[in-house]
Amino acid sequence: MHKLYIGMVGLPARGKTTVAAKILDGLSKEGIRTAIFNNGDIRREQLGVKSSEPEFYCPTNQAGRAAREGIAVTNMNRATEFLQNGGNVAILDATNVSRHRRLTIERMAIYPILWIECVNNDEELVDASILRKTKLPEFSKLSEKDACMSFKERIKYYEHIYSPLLDEKMWVVVDSLHNLILNENVPSGVPFYANIRDILVSDWVRNLYLARHGQTEYNVMDRIGGDSSLTELGHRQASCLGEYLKNYDINYVFTSKKRRSKQTAQYVVDQMENCTVIPLPEFDEINAGVCEDMMYSEIKEKYPEIARDRSYDKYGYIYPEGEGYVTLKERVDRGLKKALFLSGNAERVLIVGHQAINRMILSHFLFRRQEDVPYILVPQNSLFHIISTQQKKLFELVKFMDADLGH
Ligand code: F6P
Repeated sequence: MHKLYIGMVGLPARGKTTVAAKILDGLSKEGIRTAIFNNGDIRREQLGVKSSEPEFYCPTNQAGRAAREGIAVTNMNRATEFLQNGGNVAILDATNVSRHRRLTIERMAIYPILWIECVNNDEELVDASILRKTKLPEFSKLSEKDACMSFKERIKYYEHIYSPLLDEKMWVVVDSLHNLILNENVPSGVPFYANIRDILVSDWVRNLYLARHGQTEYNVMDRIGGDSSLTELGHRQASCLGEYLKNYDINYVFTSKKRRSKQTAQYVVDQMENCTVIPLPEFDEINAGVCEDMMYSEIKEKYPEIARDRSYDKYGYIYPEGEGYVTLKERVDRGLKKALFLSGNAERVLIVGHQAINRMILSHFLFRRQEDVPYILVPQNSLFHIISTQQKKLFELVKFMDADLGH
């Protein structure tokens, strides 16, 4: 039976663990025995919080360096043992950014090794990712600000010793945010590479719940945009959403920056024991520009040409000083990629969005004609449950409250 090591490569907070988990999930479902060997886990197990301080990673700290080399060797031994005892693919989840480290591993390898380098230079995303790392127990004694600084310092040390893949025998470089292959050097016949490549470029949505915020004061008045709060019915809808999801372990909730989205999400968060909430501006409702805060009937009266032109081509129409569905696409796609990246292959993720935003997210999975997208029904008493992995596609609309008195 074929055997393969996969060595992850990349600076911290570049999505290596997410990519590793995605490969584990995808290969395991194909019956390929796969396991992850994470250097960080051994480090925490052997050395505790002391090893979280940036000095531990300083290239001139001989003791720190020796400890890290030792951990890499232990991990490699464990991986080899797994492969010798019936395993097929052993994933070494560590930074592995120096040529020296990769050479050590290659010398120890008794089966082929494929290096996967994760690249992502989106500053905002790296920052968000660092913020998420600071929630780890190893930073519990530091304030959020100090933990961020400490982690950034650690990254700087890794940057000193970083040497990109080039001379290694088999490698692939991926943009871990956009699921793109940036470069590859993989000869034919490498075991499982066809599966791995497919996994690398696929969306990996294990369970995405997509809900719209509950009814708002503006919805009742038929006003658009703004930042109004939920009505009594809106609160009830949100509470039913929370009630429905309470038996599912939602690990991450993404909202927009708007009050109505956060208020709705809170009902779900209250039902969870351990759930991270991340508000993303990418999920803010379409900006109606000069028409913000107006009623549809007022728009018709004050700006008849806007109402007319928008009804002719709702997808392509851009509000003066605002957005259109056509311009929303890039922002929402980015938000979705960001959410999937930040939730790191979590089992269950919820997005609480808005009417136009949810239509755009749905269109990503539904492959609808553009002109139909602005008319997709996004009720306030139902949610969409989406699974999109290599092995499974599911798309269902689930009603969590009986009467839809919302808008
Ligand atoms: O009416 C609620 C709302 O979320 C508005 O804020 C937004 O402008 C509108 O829906 C988007 O829907 P449509 O494109 O159908 O006007």
